Amino acid sequence: MTVATMAPPSTLPRLLAGVGPEGAVGLHEHSEIHGELPAVARRSRKTASPLIDEIELAGLRGRGGGGFPTAAKLRAVVGARGRPIVVVNAVEGEPASVKDQTLAEAAPHLILDGAVAAAGAVGAHEVIVCMCERSPAAQLAVAQAIEERSGASDGAVRWQVAEVPPHYVASQESALVSFLNGGPAKPTLMPPRPSQRGVGGRPTLLSNAETFAHVALIARHGPEWFRAIGTAAQPGSALITLIGPIAYPGVYEAEHGSSLTSLIDAAGGLTEDVRAVLVGGYAGGWVDARHIRALALCEEGLAPYGSRLGAGVVALLPASACGLAETARVARWLAMQSAGQCGPCVHGLDTLAGTLEQTLAGSDASNHSARLSYLTSIVARRGACSHPDGTAQFVASALNVFAGELADHARHGHCDGCRRPGMLPITTELPR
Ligand SMILES: Cc1cc2nc3c(=O)[nH]c(=O)nc-3n(C[C@H](O)[C@H](O)[C@H](O)COP(=O)(O)O)c2cc1C
Ligand code: SF4
Repeated sequence: MTVATMAPPSTLPRLLAGVGPEGAVGLHEHSEIHGELPAVARRSRKTASPLIDEIELAGLRGRGGGGFPTAAKLRAVVGARGRPIVVVNAVEGEPASVKDQTLAEAAPHLILDGAVAAAGAVGAHEVIVCMCERSPAAQLAVAQAIEERSGASDGAVRWQVAEVPPHYVASQESALVSFLNGGPAKPTLMPPRPSQRGVGGRPTLLSNAETFAHVALIARHGPEWFRAIGTAAQPGSALITLIGPIAYPGVYEAEHGSSLTSLIDAAGGLTEDVRAVLVGGYAGGWVDARHIRALALCEEGLAPYGSRLGAGVVALLPASACGLAETARVARWLAMQSAGQCGPCVHGLDTLAGTLEQTLAGSDASNHSARLSYLTSIVARRGACSHPDGTAQFVASALNVFAGELADHARHGHCDGCRRPGMLPITTELPR
C-alpha cells in the first residue's frame, strides 16, 4: 500500500509530513516534524476555548463521511450539561477505505494531539480511541504512542483504547456510544446525539481520527494556515484512499478542489482503461469515466455529478469489469450489514439487492429500471441511521451511470465482466 503526498509540495504534506515506509513516527520525531502542541486554553465555566473559534474560522468539517462542521460539534458538547468525554472514531468500517488505519499506523501522535487539544477545548479529561478489531497494526501503533506519552504533559488526559467489532454499522456514532456503554455495536435512535448524551450519559465529542489530526494542526498553525489550501467552502486537505487499475494504489493526501486527474498522475497513472469511478465509497456515487477530467475532489466539484467525497474513497472501475455486478455484490453486502432493527432497512435493502441480482441474471426484463428506482426512493430516510440512505444513493447512481448495461443485462443476462473476481473490497463479518 502506497502512502504518498501529491503536489503542491510547498503546501503539502500536512497530515502525512515525515511519514515513510518504516512504521509509525515516534514521539520525538513527531515533535521535530510538527513542533510542540501549544497548551490549549481549557474551557472554563465562563469562557469557551479560543481553539473552538479557530476551528470555526478554519472551516474544518468532519472527515468521517458526513462533513459536519467540527466547531459546531465542539460547541454542542460545551453547551451540554455534565463532564464531557472525547471519542476518536478510528474504526473505519468501510472496507474500501484505509485512510484512518493508515494514518493511525503512520502518524498516531497527530491523532492523539488532536484529541488532547479538543479535550482541552471542551473541558474533558478522558479520551477513548475506538479501533477496529481487524486492524492490529493500527491498534499497536496507537497503543505504543499512548505508552510513549505516559508522563508527558497531555493536559491530564486519561487514555483508553476500545476494540470495536468489524462490521459496517458498528462505527456509526450512536452504535459506538451504545457499544462503549456496554450494549451492542448497533445504531440507536437520535436524538439524543452523542454531544448531548453519549458515553456514560455524558456530553461526548465523537469525531473521526483524521478530523482530530487536522485539529492538531490547526491548534499549532491557526486557521489562516489551514485555509491556505483547498477551496473557500472546503478548506484544507483530505486523505484519499485510491484503488483500482492504477500503478500505485494507496492513501494520498490531496488538496480539496484538486483534480482527480492530478491524483491519478500522482499515483503513477492508469494501468487499464476505466469505465467509471466510485467517489465517496459505499455511501457515495458512481460517475461516468467521461467526466473524470472534469472532477475536482471537493463537494462543490462532485455535486453536479451526483457524488460526494464522503470519507475519501476513490475507486476506479476497469473497463473490463461490470459496474452493475460490482454494485450488486456491494449492495448485497450492505443489505447484510443492516443492524436488523428498522423494517425499511432490513427488508428494503434485501429487496433492492435481490432485484438488482435478478435483473443482472436477465430474469426480470419487465420494468426493471423503474422498480429499482422506486426501491431506492422508498428506503432512503427511513432508518434510525443513514445506512439505507447511503446504500440508496450508491445504487441510484449505478442505475444512472450504467443505464445502458442495465437494459442489456435485463435482456441477455450476465456479461463477461460479471464473471471477473469482484474488485470492490467487502468483508465477511456480520453485525453482532
Ligand atoms: C453506516 C455508517 C458507518 C459509519 N462508519 C464510520 C467510520 O468507520 N468512521 C467514522 O469516522 N465515521 C463513520 N460514520 C460516521 C459517524 O456516524 C460520525 O458521523 C463520524 O464519526 C463523526 O466524525 P466527523 O464529524 O469527524 O466526521 C459512519 C456512519 C454510518 C451511517
Ligand atoms: S437503518 Fe439499518 S443499520 Fe441503521 S439502525 Fe436501522 S436497521 Fe440498523
